[in-house]
Amino acid sequence: MSFRAGMADTEKKKESNIVLALDFPFEKPENRKNLFSRAEQLLRAVHPYVCAVKFNHHLVLPLGTFDGVNKLVKTANDLGLMTIMDCKVNDIGATNQVIAEYYYAAGFDALIANPFIGWEEGLKPIFDIATRLGRGVILLIYMSHKAAGEGYGQTILDPETGEKLPQYVSFAKKALKHGADGAIVGATYPEKIREVHEILGEKVPIYSPGIGAQGGTAQAALAAGATYLIVGREITLAQKPAETAKRIRDFANPPNGGQPNSFHNHLLT
Ligand code: XMP
Repeated sequence: MSFRAGMADTEKKKESNIVLALDFPFEKPENRKNLFSRAEQLLRAVHPYVCAVKFNHHLVLPLGTFDGVNKLVKTANDLGLMTIMDCKVNDIGATNQVIAEYYYAAGFDALIANPFIGWEEGLKPIFDIATRLGRGVILLIYMSHKAAGEGYGQTILDPETGEKLPQYVSFAKKALKHGADGAIVGATYPEKIREVHEILGEKVPIYSPGIGAQGGTAQAALAAGATYLIVGREITLAQKPAETAKRIRDFANPPNGGQPNSFHNHLLT
């Protein structure tokens, strides 16, 4: 099953479009066993309310890819979840290929790449490996942080048509052209989600990070066209992570496919 089909299937089974960002603050390297246990416990507690887990350097750096994170990836799979590596691949093609091969070998279903590197000797080797292994590639389109506009929001000249357009619009068109499995647009910029959704339609699902801790809301992201919500610290640092994850899941996935309910909360609305 392709990554996209796997996500859709898991979303249906779990009745959740929430992607857990399994991120924790810095721990002294000598405490990494505790970090592993904390991550594993949180994953087991929260898994009924999410459809996928997104890993980042927060765990790959202290735990390592093949004797730490791969075990968590396996646990996530055993719990019926999809896994995404948020490595924002951003190098030359030959290096990208090796990065992708290692992360896919560790069991990840998809990885995130940065389209600033372009296609030939940039993204292409990643897409080639992903196609060969039946895995996914998700592209950054507009990031969630304050300075995102400095790069993703620049006005560029389309080399093919000579027309002026915003960088993120060009990236969204390329995501469609290259058959990306997902497009990332920050929940902190719902108007950008709307614009990108108009380009992508239902062909490439939008993944939206930046909810809660970064100031974005689930309601605005969903209303603008996001399919999946990526949530990290609001869940991982919560007093009661499972209850928080359930609350976000229940808000974003109302019964009978209705509109997100009107429960008011800084994080949701
Ligand atoms: P929080 O704690 O803010 O964590 O919910 C968000 C997670 O998502 C990552 N992040 C992004 N990843 N494009 C990405 O690929 C983005 O625009 C983006 N914004 C946040 C962040 O590193 C953390 O893991």
